Parts: sequence; C-alpha cells; structure tokens
Amino acid sequence: MNRSILNILNKTRKISAITSYDYTMASLCDQAGIDIILVGDSAGVVMLGYNNTIPVTMNDMCLFTRAVSKATKNAIVVSDMPFGTYNNTDQAIRNSRKLIRSGANAVKLEGGSGITSIIKSMTKKNIQVVGHLGLQPQTMINKKNKIKGRTKNEAINLIEDAKLLEESGAICIILEMVNHEVTRIITKMLNIPTIGIGSGIHCDGQILVIHDMLGLYDKPKFKFVKKYLTLSSEIIKAIKMYKNEVENCKFPTSDNWFSMKQSEYEKLQKWHKHKF
Ligand code: KIV
Repeated sequence: MNRSILNILNKTRKISAITSYDYTMASLCDQAGIDIILVGDSAGVVMLGYNNTIPVTMNDMCLFTRAVSKATKNAIVVSDMPFGTYNNTDQAIRNSRKLIRSGANAVKLEGGSGITSIIKSMTKKNIQVVGHLGLQPQTMINKKNKIKGRTKNEAINLIEDAKLLEESGAICIILEMVNHEVTRIITKMLNIPTIGIGSGIHCDGQILVIHDMLGLYDKPKFKFVKKYLTLSSEIIKAIKMYKNEVENCKFPTSDNWFSMKQSEYEKLQKWHKHKF
C-alpha cells in the first residue's frame, strides 16, 4: 500500500486521528472517515494490560499493525516504534521496515534533537516518519510534571525540537500535553502539520486513544480526554443480561438455533428409536 500521508496533511483542513489496534475497530474508524489511524504503543496499556508502554515489543506492534492495515481502505496507518527499537540508525531502519511490511504507511518515534540523525537516515530510505514531542510516554514514566512547555526555556526547547524534526524530514508531529500557547507557535512555524493530544485547539489535527474516547478505559482519567460514549457500562450491562439469560434458559431461542428438515428429523427419530 503506497498511501502518502502528504496528500492529506496539507494544512487545508483539520486532521482527525484516532488509535486502533484491531481489525474491527480500525474498520469502524475507516468507515467513519478518520484521516489517520495510529497503531499506538498505548496498546500495551489498553490491549495488553501493562502499566506503561515499555514492555511492548516489535512482534506486538507488527501483529496490531497487520490487523489494522487489513481493515483500512482509506485512512493512513501510522505505527509506533516501541521502546528500545530505534536506538541507532540500522536498528531503526530494520524495525521500521518490519512495521511497513506489516502494513504501516508511516512510523512514529518519540523524541527531539536526540533522534534527528536517525530520522534523517530513515527518510533518506523513503520511510515516512511521524515525530512525537511533549509528553513522551516511553521515557517519562511516573514523572510528575506531565504538561510540557510550562516555562520559557521548556517552550524554546520544544520549539527548537519541532523545527529540527521538520528539517530531518518528519512528515508531521504529534504534540502530547503541550501548553496551547506553545502549540500555537509551533504550528504556525512549521510547514508540516501538528496533531495534538491534550495540546489545545491550535494544532492542525487532533488524536485520541479510542478506548478513552469511547469510555472503554477509565484509568487514569486525563483532562484532555473527551468521552464521546460510556461504552464500558453499556458492555457490562449487556454481558450481565447475557449471563442472566443463559442461567435462566432465555438464550438461545429458536431465533438463534438451526433446525433439520422435518422429513430428515422423522427419519432420525426412527433410527434413534430402533437403535436405543
Ligand atoms: O501510543 C499512543 O497511543 C500515542 C498517542 C497517545 C499519541 O502515542
């Protein structure tokens, strides 16, 4: 699949992005017309039950990416490179190619000035790279101050990192939990789009973790998560109903089972009577 991210990321309208990790959800997001589906390493938390994204492996990400890309007809599929899989150029190129072979159109790496030479080498090999600045979950576990760009110096670092990522060939940048004033400066300064999560309205697009916005995953609850549904309680309600109906023989009914032709059934009954 050769879907170029640049076709939609031209800053003419806001970009909608959402995470997905499996065939069914990705298919629904694609049908809803979402521009970018991120196979995030947040899968480690919402799909695999880890406390953070660190234990996520390349094999995990390739599996999720294969499922998502199989379901996706129009959206661009971006896959996260997990922790420890892009420590040097060769490793980054080798691993990003695994994700691309699994169906990703682009890969996402967390970091600023420390990874620009790696990004440059990847883009030279025609690998489309999405940057990720602000809160970087792979290296900021348990850190107290999650909001980024709180002081002038922190803001300047972020702005400079964003410029460096663009110069290295990144095709867009995710800004996670960056103060909206800083987001505005970065977004105005860059030619490539910014996509925000908890970074305010000035980004060129927005992204949310699908489990958060559907109300499937409640812990921890961030201010930036807008719940569009509370599916967890609906699902629990449905499962309780199912359990109750099974226990009380109300499910299945003839609507849900299959019957033999009457003539075949009569033959079977004769055979049964004779045999037993
Ligand atoms: O892993 C992820 O889902 C992400 C988003 C929060 C941007 O990186």
